[in-house]
Amino acid sequence: MKIEKYNRRNNMENIKEKIFKLREKIEKYNYYYYVKNESLISDTEFDLLLKELEKLEGDYPEYKKENTPSENVGSSLKETKFKKIVHKKPMLSLSNSYNIKDVEQFMERVNKNLENEDKKIDYALEVKLDGLSISVIYEKGKLIKAITRGDGEIGEDVTENILEIQTIPKYIKENINIEVRGEVVLPLSNFEKLNKKRLENNEEIFANPRNAASGTLRQLDSNIVKERGLDAYFYFIVDGENYEIKTQEESFRFLNNLGLKTTGICEVLSTVEELDQRIEYWAKKREELDYETDGLVIKVNELELWEEIGYTTKSPRWAIAYKFPAKQVTTILKDVTWQVGRTGKVTPVAELEEVELSGSKVKRASLHNYEEILRKDIRIGDRVFIEKAAEIIPQVVMPVKEVRTGEEKTIVPPEICPVCATKLIKEDGLVDLKCPNLECPAIIQGQIEYFVSRDGMNINGLGSKIIERFLQLGYIKDITDIYNLKEHKEELETLEKLGKKSIENLLNSIEISKERDYSKTLYALGIPYIGKFLGNLLAKESGTIEKLSLMSVDELLEIDGVGDKVAESVYNYFRDEKNKEIIRKLKEYGVNFENKFVEKTDENTKFQGKTFLFTGKLEKFTREEIKEEIEKLGGTNLSGVSKKLDYLIVGKDAGSKLKKAEELGTVKILSEEEFLEIVKG
Ligand code: IVH
Repeated sequence: MKIEKYNRRNNMENIKEKIFKLREKIEKYNYYYYVKNESLISDTEFDLLLKELEKLEGDYPEYKKENTPSENVGSSLKETKFKKIVHKKPMLSLSNSYNIKDVEQFMERVNKNLENEDKKIDYALEVKLDGLSISVIYEKGKLIKAITRGDGEIGEDVTENILEIQTIPKYIKENINIEVRGEVVLPLSNFEKLNKKRLENNEEIFANPRNAASGTLRQLDSNIVKERGLDAYFYFIVDGENYEIKTQEESFRFLNNLGLKTTGICEVLSTVEELDQRIEYWAKKREELDYETDGLVIKVNELELWEEIGYTTKSPRWAIAYKFPAKQVTTILKDVTWQVGRTGKVTPVAELEEVELSGSKVKRASLHNYEEILRKDIRIGDRVFIEKAAEIIPQVVMPVKEVRTGEEKTIVPPEICPVCATKLIKEDGLVDLKCPNLECPAIIQGQIEYFVSRDGMNINGLGSKIIERFLQLGYIKDITDIYNLKEHKEELETLEKLGKKSIENLLNSIEISKERDYSKTLYALGIPYIGKFLGNLLAKESGTIEKLSLMSVDELLEIDGVGDKVAESVYNYFRDEKNKEIIRKLKEYGVNFENKFVEKTDENTKFQGKTFLFTGKLEKFTREEIKEEIEKLGGTNLSGVSKKLDYLIVGKDAGSKLKKAEELGTVKILSEEEFLEIVKG
């Protein structure tokens, strides 16, 4: 009995300690976020901590203290440099949802809070801007005050700074008193410019546009605000009913009519299915916007219902945020390795403690080059922010210096090639380290990987592991040896983990590749600066590789789209004896290096004037292959379902596109088999 009591007390002490520590941690993160405009962890990581605290405080209310961060909105204003102003109406936060189930539950709660529980509710769907919320007061049409959210009750007077934002009007179009709320953001284009400049000046960069916007707006020097090009979008009118506004949708129109900017994105939807569909749409479409969004906001459209549905201490019950998966997370940089690419460039790669980022597990990320490591002062052992930018490869954004222990180690660049041990060089004017040994196995491996890639010769069955093995065993020494592999067929079949079938498929794919378009074979050679676009252009302009190889720099420059660097690169490539030999051998093996005259036969006009789209998981084709097939037969690929669409090819687990096509009723829906039958005639 005594022991039980002791254990219980001990356990309670632990919980108390846990709650205390958690609160301290959250307060620290809040302080940095709101006061210093820095994120020490990602929003998602923060949300998880807050949820944990809420749960513990719920289970053990005896340890819940006043002023707990789980009930506070925003920042403490202890250290503000600005005058404090009490909000006429509190500026609330939003509760979060992460999936459609959460949204459905929110909708159910909305109905439960209404007298008429069965009422059909319209919802307004907006983008959630990731910036800094602001309340702006106009008196008789003139901007007289602008206040940050602060702790929700009291904010900071940032009027001087707001007056420097060109897109916020100093006078609105009506001579009225009104308070409007919205978000100050730094457009992505300006954010990139700002960070570039800061890196050049050896200043600390901002991890994301939100921190930059918030850091900028809360500067005491309003000239800085002017320089950086902040922008603002409004989404809320305090006491909107007083202006006879009936819905959130109307609020947007009202704001616009006053000359106040909105995102223009406010879709009125009523079912969970519709919401699901539009959430999926905006999750992609948001990449095209020039401001950062961290989710969507779903609001009951009819303002009259807001009071009836009510509020919690922190947020309205008539709205919810739908958060997109985080683009940035933090993790530990365990080590840095150096990778040698096909051009000899040696790039640092971050070896990370595994984390999940936008739905995939990440263990490695790009560190670009050594200068960038120095400029950002990244060290081994650091907690670092990583993100997936437009590219698929994650990048290290910056270290979180505030949590350093002193044990972190500086990163030392290699002096010799990590693969072939040749002394590395630094080309004039370029920041990159380079391995000058053209025989370096890593360079050759890179060239072969590039040669066989999908955009190049599209050879299936030659992944990086197999290439490495073939190089080690001496079957390949350069790209031309790929076409000689068939001479070693029997030996290859006996190799472990390969076998007859896979070698047969590989050799088949190699033979087929000889017929690739000239534009693709040109790309596959890996001539510096020649990517997909220039590969196409040069193939079209030259017709054959002989002609291209004989062109002078001036002749190359005459091609629209070719500049100095490209012309020189192409010219030099064809003057190198080793390259000449490679092309001679490839030709001897029968690789195509000329534009084939495409005769218009029944075959390639079969899909003339017809439009296609595919959706779901395809099993018989890759997306690239099916697109090529359609174009070969004269058809056009579309990117979305519309009235213009003739055929939708449906794979496994097709979703909203199929539904939309069915609703339109004018689109012919084909399975992969049906499509194949048409192709075959
Ligand atoms: S409505 C009571 N709409 O997100 C109404 N907020 O996480 C609350 N935000 O404090 C705000 N875009 O700073 C609303 N379209 C939008 C928004 C938005 C961004 C911010 C706002 C809010 C925070 C809550």
